Amino acid sequence: MCGIFAYTGKVGKEAGGVLLDGLLSLEYRGYDSAGIFLPEAGSVRTPGAVAELRKKIPKDFKGKSGIAHLRWATHGEPTEKNAHPHADCEGEVWVVHNGIIENFKELKEKLLAEGHMFKSDSDTEVLAHLVEEHLKHEKSFEKAALAALNEVRGTYGIALQYKKEPDRIIAARMGSPIVLGLGDGEHFIASDPSPILPHTKKVVFLEDGEVAVITPDGHKIFKLDSTNVKREATHIDWSVEESQKGGYEHFMLKEIMEGPQVIEDTLRGRLIADEGMAKLGGLESVANELKNIERIIIVAQGTAYIAGLVGEYMLEEYAGVPVEVEYASEFRYRSPVLNQKTALIAISQSGETLDTLEAVREGKRKGALTLGIVNAVGSTIARETDAGVYNHAGPEISVASTKALISQLAALVLFTLFFGRQRSMGVKTAKEIIAELKTLPKKIETILKSEETIAALAKKYANNRDFLFIGRKSNYPIALEGALKLKEISYMHAEGYSAGEMKHGPIAMIDEHFPTLAIATVGSVYEKMVSNIHEIKARKGPVIALATEGDKEIGKLADDVIYVPETIEMLSPILNVVPLQLFAYYFAKEKGLNVDRPRNLAKSVTVE
Ligand code: F6R
Repeated sequence: MCGIFAYTGKVGKEAGGVLLDGLLSLEYRGYDSAGIFLPEAGSVRTPGAVAELRKKIPKDFKGKSGIAHLRWATHGEPTEKNAHPHADCEGEVWVVHNGIIENFKELKEKLLAEGHMFKSDSDTEVLAHLVEEHLKHEKSFEKAALAALNEVRGTYGIALQYKKEPDRIIAARMGSPIVLGLGDGEHFIASDPSPILPHTKKVVFLEDGEVAVITPDGHKIFKLDSTNVKREATHIDWSVEESQKGGYEHFMLKEIMEGPQVIEDTLRGRLIADEGMAKLGGLESVANELKNIERIIIVAQGTAYIAGLVGEYMLEEYAGVPVEVEYASEFRYRSPVLNQKTALIAISQSGETLDTLEAVREGKRKGALTLGIVNAVGSTIARETDAGVYNHAGPEISVASTKALISQLAALVLFTLFFGRQRSMGVKTAKEIIAELKTLPKKIETILKSEETIAALAKKYANNRDFLFIGRKSNYPIALEGALKLKEISYMHAEGYSAGEMKHGPIAMIDEHFPTLAIATVGSVYEKMVSNIHEIKARKGPVIALATEGDKEIGKLADDVIYVPETIEMLSPILNVVPLQLFAYYFAKEKGLNVDRPRNLAKSVTVE
């Protein structure tokens, strides 16, 4: 996720140095380009790292205030021209922004018609021009900025600066965090406290819909409707590292906790609820080809492959398209029979997994339409596929993939709606799915509140050496994911099985030392899962059941129960995976392992 840092002071500090050091402590968020603006010195931007930016900065780049940014691309490739800060036509108004301006296209058209000249493909640039436009009529920078902010829709954390008022910086928040740092003769704005903490521990967190103005001597906060806000400062004792993790002990936990936000971000602007449609701008260029698709092949590795397996259930049942899911590493070495009526969907968080990339290339050679569900904007898979959808999950830092899977599953629901409505899916069904989809963030929040119960269970079972996960239908892949997470961060022997397969071999392993986590939430296979649990209990196997809130029967059968809110069967994997992620996390933590950096694993596997 992009990082913002802004500084204004009168205590003799060099703003350029303060801002560059601050950017270094935001690097953990992941980014693809960096930039800085000082009203007294100008701007420098570059694709790549903060170290590159530092190299490009001239010796006389000096000033008392400025704004800086690390960009994680959303609109436009990660190039110098798209890096922030962005400016208006005259280079007077400068802006750094995290988030997405949803109505940027219409605003840009209006501004172009008014004669504004754009230099980038970024949605952010409209903000600088909007402020410039309002400065023609408003008396002050503050008023012009407020008028501009009232015109934009979407999510933002913003810092704005005006060359003619160099010591004043304006910040605003709508869905993307902003924190103010209150020093003595100096003030700060940042997207999280980490760059502020070396200077002051006194901070104020903005709420959505709030605007703040900082000068060296003070700050003020007001709402978008100009009413004043009084907020006490908070004293935070976090170290820089703790702050980067949002106060959580590990990135993995922070990323699991981001689940509700990730769903919102993946769905944002992509649902037309009253028509029961998904609007996927990234697929528009291939809209005609998609109508003629007769078969889908999903290729991916690891957790992304598991997302694909869940997608298979959704797409076949609701869109009526035949789907095959294959490890990209296998696909690329056989001779797949493909044609122009085949869509090959590559799912990848990093967009750089070599096997997945090679499977895309193989698909292209054989004439398939290639599509991507990718998190990292501008990554190789995103560039090489014919079209695709970005996850907008923000960078995932922990090696074990958690929030990316949540967003991949949400994206696959969007694909299902998209393909389904082109084919057999009726508007009623689509509307029901959309209505339920919108409830998922709140339901995930409820699950996250059972963190302590899940941590206690992980402690109870931490001395076991083996673990089995079982599920059926689209929760069978979730059983695979539960096992994969436990293997990769706890180094445990864990297996994921389709519950129906138990009797054909795996049940032989069951005894009182071999626990099973059984996914038995309500749905068409609930009774079958209950029978499987009976079979395990008859062999003295301990069982943790994942069940739907209100299921009183399961507690009589299983040794332990984790409850999740009810949802429709199609969407249940999105909820059910969350407790399994937490379980694996607490299991590894209990064993004192390096959760975020498990042995032998890399975040992005760019070798065979
Ligand atoms: C599991 C995990 C890996 C990745 C796999 C694919 O937690 O992180 O299994 O899911 O390496 O990576 P991407 O999605 O980047 O292609």
